[in-house]
Amino acid sequence: MQEILQKIEQLQRAAESSIQSAIDEKMTEQVRIDFLGKNSPLTELLKTVGKLPPSERPVIGDAVNKAKDYIQLLMFKKKADIDAKTMGDRMARDRLDVTLPGRGQQLGSLHPITQVRDRIEALFSSIGFDVSEGFEIEDEWHNFEALNIPAHHPARNEQDTFYLENGKLLRTHTSPVQIRYMLEHQPPMRMIAPGRVYRRDFDATHTPMFHQTEGLVIDRQVNFGHLKQMISQFLRRFFEKNDLQVRFRASYFPFTEPSAEADMQCVLCDGKGCSVCGNGWLEILGCGMVHPDVLAAGGIDSNEFTGYAFGFGMDRLAMLYFGIPDLRLVFENDIRFLRQF
Ligand code: DAH
Repeated sequence: MQEILQKIEQLQRAAESSIQSAIDEKMTEQVRIDFLGKNSPLTELLKTVGKLPPSERPVIGDAVNKAKDYIQLLMFKKKADIDAKTMGDRMARDRLDVTLPGRGQQLGSLHPITQVRDRIEALFSSIGFDVSEGFEIEDEWHNFEALNIPAHHPARNEQDTFYLENGKLLRTHTSPVQIRYMLEHQPPMRMIAPGRVYRRDFDATHTPMFHQTEGLVIDRQVNFGHLKQMISQFLRRFFEKNDLQVRFRASYFPFTEPSAEADMQCVLCDGKGCSVCGNGWLEILGCGMVHPDVLAAGGIDSNEFTGYAFGFGMDRLAMLYFGIPDLRLVFENDIRFLRQF
């Protein structure tokens, strides 16, 4: 029996020194397996207690259990030490230096088209115009028929229009918003409709998607003079040039009668003539008095009300306003280009 007790003491001391020299979690786990595990000598000893003479059993059993408890306690302390050290190490390694300067914010900017659209909306809103959007997916009636563009008209050629499988189409201009607006409102009315339009066109000066703004004013006794005044003032204020020259040339649009195109003095060369304008004038916009048939399609009595409408490309306006030389730059979204605005 003495022999067994001595062996227990020996094991306990061995465990003690192993625990002492353990420096990490892995080593402590090995100590646990070696000294307390299923196949450890102490566990084996416990299994043989039953075979000892009855008088010795409690003594040996007690000694084994005490040794196990003791080893367990040492391990527990060791583990706490290691945990504390690991935590300390990690805090030292991962310390945040809150005094380092931050990375800073990259400020984005609005796309030039968005800036121009915002300007247009602000100018017209300030004189009481409503802003209406309409739909980019339209039907033939709103995009063509109601605007007095009959089925044989060249503008309905499939070459120009993107037709969708469901028989609808991508609007080819913002003019259908006139119809939608008339059907939803009562005159007097003043509205602009800025937005995207689509045509099957792609070269140096055309992109399949581009931007237009439509304008519509309907009231009693609205005449062509009002239209000329509105367009001239808008262009002067948009380009911040009070003496900007604007001229009107007779033209044709199915949805207006009479119709005109407005030219303005080139803002790049002050009308002297340059590579952009040629002769000092820039074609900028289409307009006219709303055709009685169009008023009728919008549910408005042309005996009581008259109106004018206009439409222009926002991309061209943006190019002139910012001095952008190539339309494609506007759509390529090259960040180096966009950063300049
Ligand atoms: N819808 C025409 C186009 O896309 C532009 C236009 C011309 C609109 C005359 C109008 C207008 O409202 O009166 O080319």
